[in-house]
Amino acid sequence: TVGKSLLVCPPHPAGALELCPAVLFFSRPRCSGIPYVPQPRDKSVSARSVISFYNQSAIDIAAEKPSVRLTPTTILYAGKSPDNSHILRSAQYLYKELPVRVAHRIRDFRHLPFIVGCNPTILHVHELYIRSFHLLSEFPPVEDFESEEKYTKLVKDLLDDHKDVVTLLAEGFRESRKHIKEYKVIQEFLDRMLTSRLGIRMLAQHHIALHQEKPNYVGIICTQMSLKKIIEKWADFSRQVCEYKYGFAPRVRVLGHVGVVFPYIPLPLDYILPELLKNAMRATCEQHSDNPVNMPDVTVTIANNDVDFIIRISDKGGGMPREILEKVMQYHFTTCGSEMDPASENLDGLGTMMSAMNDGPNGAGPMYGKRQQPKARNPVSEDLVEYVGRSGSNGFGFGLPTSRAYAEYLGGSLTYNTMQGIGTDVYLRLRHIDGNYESFRI
Ligand code: ADP
Ligand code: COI
Repeated sequence: TVGKSLLVCPPHPAGALELCPAVLFFSRPRCSGIPYVPQPRDKSVSARSVISFYNQSAIDIAAEKPSVRLTPTTILYAGKSPDNSHILRSAQYLYKELPVRVAHRIRDFRHLPFIVGCNPTILHVHELYIRSFHLLSEFPPVEDFESEEKYTKLVKDLLDDHKDVVTLLAEGFRESRKHIKEYKVIQEFLDRMLTSRLGIRMLAQHHIALHQEKPNYVGIICTQMSLKKIIEKWADFSRQVCEYKYGFAPRVRVLGHVGVVFPYIPLPLDYILPELLKNAMRATCEQHSDNPVNMPDVTVTIANNDVDFIIRISDKGGGMPREILEKVMQYHFTTCGSEMDPASENLDGLGTMMSAMNDGPNGAGPMYGKRQQPKARNPVSEDLVEYVGRSGSNGFGFGLPTSRAYAEYLGGSLTYNTMQGIGTDVYLRLRHIDGNYESFRI
């Protein structure tokens, strides 16, 4: 997509094709199909390229502005007008807001340690944001439905262009890991980057969804969300993936306040729940591989109150050993692909369910766990393959830290208790959007 997007990018004084010498030096062409043409080593040309890469006053100005964050209830009650003027207003809000938020992301890329920022994969994502900034900020003002339609098309295209950002960042930081002295810098970058991106994507998808009439939905907000249903959807999904990889999967029981319905945004749950259920199932399968017929269930308990709701995911997958407790919430920590080796460098996803997904039903890539031979390989639907590909869960050790960052962004928390030798309880607590306290802001 990048090659395509660079080609369609309108010319601007500091176009994405003009890169700093470091980029020219390290960059490898990515899925662009454009032949890589080495740039002349003429000193004046390099000097101009350097300046154009970071001396972009439009980005600097936008990055200084604060973002305008709305509560879901503000969005929910923004009103639906018969003449569709609410859609125009929504586009006009996005038109102002997106360049500011994208500029904040670019500012963060500029603040990365030099050697990390030079990593080709990270540079590629950085460029993606620069390009999006120019496309969004140079778009003519949205004044009527004709321009709104074109603007919405641009936003849709950008959502698609950015769909692999989490996976790319996971790859880029993994590649540059050896140069990272202070993990905290990277953790803070990723927490900010991933939560801000979740906010951007929620706003963009909300606007797109306003065009569609769907019962019980206002944009991306479901006015009657059933937690039980959404848990069951992701439990079915995770079981499919698990069976595909291991040949068997634990059953999932949903208990507690199973009848509750309330207004909420399903989208972040669509990211978090499969990550947590996948972890519980993987642990259960690996712990009980010698007796899969009698595998203990994964139990999900819902508790609802005026302020928030809690989802507890309990497994009997043997828990976590003491030596990994401090690390499981760190980006890139994974025991996938290793026999519970916390120092594993083998992050190629051999041991993960999600890599099995990404290989696709007929993929020739790795499909088996290390210890199990699957009994059956059930095909997984293409939709689901694509969906989870988007969340970046490729056995990179991003599931827990990303889910925790999302939960905190949503005014909640993600914690766990584990009993080594028995199993793990993970608690996802999220604040209601219509509760007694002010909810999060998107
Ligand atoms: P990944 O699934 O890619 O490994 P996560 O961040 O989701 O990344 O999990 C990190 C690690 O935490 C896992 O590799 C595993 O060692 C451990 N872990 C997570 N959930 C559980 C669980 N329910 N039981 C046992 N270990 C777990
Ligand atoms: C992202 O998904 O990374 C974005 O920021 C999307 C946005 C440019 C529309």
